[in-house]
Amino acid sequence: MSNRGGFSDRLGFVAAAAGSAIGLGSIWKFPFEVGSNGGAAFVLVYVLCCFVFCFPIMLAEVAIGRKTHKNAVGAFGVLGFKQWSIIGKLGLVSGVLILSFYNVVSGWAFGFFIEIMRGNFGIGKEFSTFISDIPLMTTYSALFMVMTAFIVARGISGGIEKATKIMIPALFVILIGLMLYAFSLDHALTGLKFYLVPDFSKITFKVIYSALGQAFFSLSLGMGALITYGSYFSRDNNIVSSSVIIIAATISIAFIAGLMMFPFVAYISQGTMQGVGSGPGLIFTVLPGVFESFGTTLGIIVGGSFFLLLSFAALTSTVSLLEVPVAYLVDEYKWDRQKTVWGVALFIFLIGIPSMLSSGASPFFTEFITYLGATKATDFLTFVQHIANDTFLPLGGFMISIFTAYYWKKENLDAELTAGNEGYANSWVRPLVHIAVSFVCPIILGIIFVLTVLDRFFGIALV
Ligand code: PHE
Repeated sequence: MSNRGGFSDRLGFVAAAAGSAIGLGSIWKFPFEVGSNGGAAFVLVYVLCCFVFCFPIMLAEVAIGRKTHKNAVGAFGVLGFKQWSIIGKLGLVSGVLILSFYNVVSGWAFGFFIEIMRGNFGIGKEFSTFISDIPLMTTYSALFMVMTAFIVARGISGGIEKATKIMIPALFVILIGLMLYAFSLDHALTGLKFYLVPDFSKITFKVIYSALGQAFFSLSLGMGALITYGSYFSRDNNIVSSSVIIIAATISIAFIAGLMMFPFVAYISQGTMQGVGSGPGLIFTVLPGVFESFGTTLGIIVGGSFFLLLSFAALTSTVSLLEVPVAYLVDEYKWDRQKTVWGVALFIFLIGIPSMLSSGASPFFTEFITYLGATKATDFLTFVQHIANDTFLPLGGFMISIFTAYYWKKENLDAELTAGNEGYANSWVRPLVHIAVSFVCPIILGIIFVLTVLDRFFGIALV
């Protein structure tokens, strides 16, 4: 391999990619998406999307990266399809947009860690005041961006891999501990029922596209993060089984986060599940009250570790988001890695300021846009999520499947997936992956993409 660096072994890649996947998407977003989109019905559609649409796209992304040892834009040129580097460019834009608001929310998580450590459990009730306190939020999100840049600046094996190998197992342990505790609370069963008993009448078109956007977002797909990470992965390793592990780990964390969250909501609302659809504030408003009920010392220990680990989970995702533009600039323009890391981090931090202002501090950004046919305005941070997560990521996935099936060709995908996995050529997975990338993904993702844009932004509901 060239001097770009690389993961030291298979576990390094799996930890980093799972670290990218597992983050605010699984722990912060998943429970509130479930809460606002009909509970278990959403969970089912989400899991289905992960396996049917996301798994084949993940294979294609990692294979493209590993084959070329190049960033998300340059990879397409190396394969001989320079005009398709538009996929990578769209990915860069998505990545920059996502990191800009993601860093703001990570700042909330980190801020909550500090407040809980100081014994301030009232912070849950003051959530909206807290996130509109601009000097404080600027400090926390700047701090978070510095931590992200610090890790990325240390490189692939010495920075990203090392950090994720420690943080991801720790996250599993604390979440399982919290879940078990949640089971023991009053009304736990009511919460679990809301979460686990599906009501199929709730599966509307909105549920499907939210679940699809969530699946792409939570698996870090459609924007080149996995092309980039794949480019640091060695050819003697198995892409297929690694991808299965990454998806299984992500779904498990999201699922466990739900198993913890809904009994907590039931407990705090005394079984009424009131507030379950309260949106982005869900974990921030509900959890501090729960931790308070443990008594001060235990509350600080458990609550502090929860928000610290949430911050860690976010950090292993922000590093992957920052690595995408950094790898691009370093590979293509031979920029100095250190300077690029810090420069790009500063740039994205600045782009995130409107998102920071959109939770009350600035009326303009808080009521940023009213979609056609909508009755309520959408704030800037949510608007960016709608554009990047729900629109660009599935569009990126759509284009990657077309590119892989009809331009790069399935034989080349097969060859890359067989490297490090001799059995792949004759396995039953291969024909299914072919059908998925050639037909299922392009057709279904294409249709859902068009319908989503019409429905969400123009108020035109065709189904
Ligand atoms: N998957 C991350 C999460 O769920 C977010 C992310 C999206 C990271 C896209 C990288 C690329 O939190």
